[in-house]
Amino acid sequence: MYESAMTLFADPADCGRAIVEAASGLRSGRAHDLSWVSIRFVDDDLYRSSPFCAGIPIPQALARAGSRRLTEFVAGRACAREAVRRLTAKAMTPGMGSDRAPVWPEGIVGSISHCGDRAIAVVGAADRYLGLGIDLERHLSISEADEIAPLVLTDAERQRLGTRLDEKVVSLVFSAKESLFKALSRLTGPIPFFAAFELVTLGKGTARFRLRQAQSPRWHSNRVFPVRLDEFDGLFATFAAINPDFT
Ligand SMILES: CC(C)(COP(=O)(O)OP(=O)(O)OC[C@H]1O[C@@H](n2cnc3c(N)ncnc32)[C@H](O)[C@@H]1OP(=O)(O)O)[C@@H](O)C(=O)NCCC(=O)NCCS
Repeated sequence: MYESAMTLFADPADCGRAIVEAASGLRSGRAHDLSWVSIRFVDDDLYRSSPFCAGIPIPQALARAGSRRLTEFVAGRACAREAVRRLTAKAMTPGMGSDRAPVWPEGIVGSISHCGDRAIAVVGAADRYLGLGIDLERHLSISEADEIAPLVLTDAERQRLGTRLDEKVVSLVFSAKESLFKALSRLTGPIPFFAAFELVTLGKGTARFRLRQAQSPRWHSNRVFPVRLDEFDGLFATFAAINPDFT
């Protein structure tokens, strides 16, 4: 039984509503042909001890990884496997590409994020979505926001947002650009920098960004992408969905 808990997947045209929560740290939901699952991991041995995470293959690239990295990786993949199972009735785990991006089963697109002790995965049908991107981010302190602002914000964004930067705005823009990167990079080819996106509008619950440079005739610089903004279990959460009819 589920209860509504946040607005991240509200309206997929505008990037989504409806998150739901089950008992014991596992949260999940379905809306608009999206399926998402999130877990909280209480210790760094989850990859060894949790039945929810049993059988997740560890890629060669992580052969020397420490237990913290293995736990977040396995937690993200276990969420992805469960989200795929809830969407398709088949439990399939995405692999890991050479660029570290998840390799989704045929007919599925999705995204994974982990932050602190939480992991989340969202998946959707590839005929409904071209790409999905999700990102969890902790609340940055004022000094952390000041430090990363030159990396995350373009000059124009800095001017628009004023000289006294709000750490919440910096955290959300940072996270939203990560979500867009995850949703788009498979479609456009690698997007190298945060500067690839520029904030167009920032409203309650939604921000819109444009591509600053044309990546291809289809992904031109006038394209504007909505990103859903929310809070989730003490973290910021952002979500981008790219629709096939997007022109
Ligand atoms: C890829 C990137 C976005 C991941 O974000 P992060 O804050 O480090 O971590 P998150 O927990 O939110 O996400 C990590 C997950 O993203 C996924 N991911 C990694 N690379 C990805 C890519 N190229 N495309 C889509 N998803 C990717 C993976 O599933 C990864 O988890 P895993 O390694 O355990 O499987 C980040 O490492 C990054 O920014 N890389 C540089 C690319 C860049 O220029 N980004 C700026 C955006 S304009």
